Amino acid sequence: MKYRTVLLFGAPGSGKGTQGRILGQVPDFFYFSCGDAFRNLRIDDPIGKTFIEYSSRGLLVPDDTTINLWSRNIQASTMDGSFNPTRDTLILDGIPRNPKQAEMLKDVLDVKGLLHLACLDKAKMIERLQRRALRENRLDDANLEVIKKRLDTYDNETKPVVDYYGPKLVHQIDSSEHPVKVLRQILDVVVKL
Ligand code: AP5
Repeated sequence: MKYRTVLLFGAPGSGKGTQGRILGQVPDFFYFSCGDAFRNLRIDDPIGKTFIEYSSRGLLVPDDTTINLWSRNIQASTMDGSFNPTRDTLILDGIPRNPKQAEMLKDVLDVKGLLHLACLDKAKMIERLQRRALRENRLDDANLEVIKKRLDTYDNETKPVVDYYGPKLVHQIDSSEHPVKVLRQILDVVVKL
């Protein structure tokens, strides 16, 4: 069975997590953030160590490790009843992160739409991440060089995912606006999917 899926897509700081957590509160939606799944691992978990090694340099974790973690989490959420695949729409944040991951997931995801949270103002996204660094203890927000590397990784490796899914599935969302206005744009799309 394929999971009915909506992808939340965008650069670091574009607001995927902010909007995804809100959508996840709506009945019949299940929100999964790949970054949160990595951060929730224990520090002595081998995948947790791999995550720190890559994310602290602004790099993507290798694909096999990432897809493995994703499958493990989705299976666990299905078993504990928090995710009901026959009823719920899966809201994915941060995965697939490159065309290879999209290919690895093609037999399990029925992608209904990709919401591209776009903010052309890079300085604004950097400022958001630096402000978040003061509130949350994220290694990858702590240093400007790592933030810039994450933005480069997004441009070079992640953005091609938009072309992988193609224009029929892609919806542009202006994420430079206030979060409540971003949410309104997202809901306008999601109700029609
Ligand atoms: P991940 O956790 O996915 O980080 P990211 O993509 O860099 O995204 P962020 O969490 O930084 O930003 P966001 O878009 O969610 O913004 P948020 O809503 O928090 O990945 C971290 C690392 O894990 C990766 O670098 C990689 O190493 C690894 N990884 C994860 N998935 C992977 C995969 N599939 N494959 C390989 N590796 C993977 O908002 C940011 C801040 O801005 C917040 O403080 C928020 O309050 C504020 N904000 C949000 N929206 C607005 C707004 N509209 N106006 C003003 N402020 C706003």
